[in-house]
Amino acid sequence: MNNIKLKLILQIFLFATWTLGGCEKSVSNDDNTVVVTPTIATLKNKTTTFFVGVATSTPKLAIINYTQLIEREFESITAEYQMKMDVILPTKGIYNWSKADEIVNYSITKGLRVHGHALIWHESTPVWLVDYKGTDAEFELEVKNYITAVVTRYKDKVTSWDVVNEGVADAGGALRNTIFKQRMGDDYMVKCFKWAREADPNCKLFYNDYGFETNISKQNKIFDLILDWKNRNIPINGLGFQMHINYLTSKSQMQDAITKAVGTGLLIHISELDIRMNPNNDISSFTTERSTAQQLKYKEVVSMYNAIPLANKFGITLWGVKDDDSWLLKFHNNYNEWPLLFDSTFKAKKAHTGFLEGIN
Ligand code: G3I
Repeated sequence: MNNIKLKLILQIFLFATWTLGGCEKSVSNDDNTVVVTPTIATLKNKTTTFFVGVATSTPKLAIINYTQLIEREFESITAEYQMKMDVILPTKGIYNWSKADEIVNYSITKGLRVHGHALIWHESTPVWLVDYKGTDAEFELEVKNYITAVVTRYKDKVTSWDVVNEGVADAGGALRNTIFKQRMGDDYMVKCFKWAREADPNCKLFYNDYGFETNISKQNKIFDLILDWKNRNIPINGLGFQMHINYLTSKSQMQDAITKAVGTGLLIHISELDIRMNPNNDISSFTTERSTAQQLKYKEVVSMYNAIPLANKFGITLWGVKDDDSWLLKFHNNYNEWPLLFDSTFKAKKAHTGFLEGIN
């Protein structure tokens, strides 16, 4: 094959890789020929104004397929469950830092930021504290000591925390009636934010919840709380939309909720994104039609986020690496579900393309 043909093919290839995702040129050291390695469009290469993160756990960090993908695609790690109170303080007075340390140390070694999740959550409260026999004041001191110990240990390593997760009820526009509300009073979240701030003056402090992109009574309660906290100079920096949605979730409702959140001036984190594609259990295999619908939905959510003012931008975190890792399968006892960006073989799905298209 003569040089002209070779050059032509090379130019076509260069053009193709440029349009698809860019390329890197490097000069090989023996004969100075140009070595072209196409730059695969990855989430972290594409996002410049916010981070893309992923939830994971230590068993997965021991598997090369996971760590290669995580390090290639993501800039932030959230511990899916191993930085919660029921794992760190399962027994009164005895801290077990091993798993949390492992995740934080791995992330720092790999240059990944860590989003702490979650200091206070009614569903991950250890039994000893739920059944606590001491006075309310002693209960409150246990919570203060826990928040202080955790935030202090990971100061400057974990640069943002979900201080309280899911403190508002799904109905009635009221606080969720958790053990913390019962033992510490209606203002318990304010105390938690203050203790976290005292332990680390720099980290970003978030209130995190689900469903308020479409649940209006919950949305109103959350924004009322935020307005009250801001008026009282409570040290809150951000609001986390978990965004466990499905492909039929209303775009206009999500947009309205995000627009309201922008109005608070807080950082906005889409903190636990996954998109169910079989909410009505009407398919048993992932059809092309549903796969395309997911591409469009990820594009929709990401472009909505990408359009918010820079001052509100923080990050988007996927709640799991690949489809068969998702909590949704067990939670809904429906294994015909494909909510994430990578399939069970670690292969990028159309959803991944949709995410990238949302950033254009
Ligand atoms: O890995 C252990 C396994 O070794 C053990 O045999 C098994 C039985 O106990 O437990 C396994 O750990 C479980 C882990 O999920 C992995 O499956 C934990 O017990 C279980 O508590 C953990 O559930 C997590 C749940 O929060 C409670 O912490 C889910 O992974 C996680 O996806 C879920 O995430 C929540 C967010 O924090 C808040 N928003 C909703 C979201 C989904 O519920």
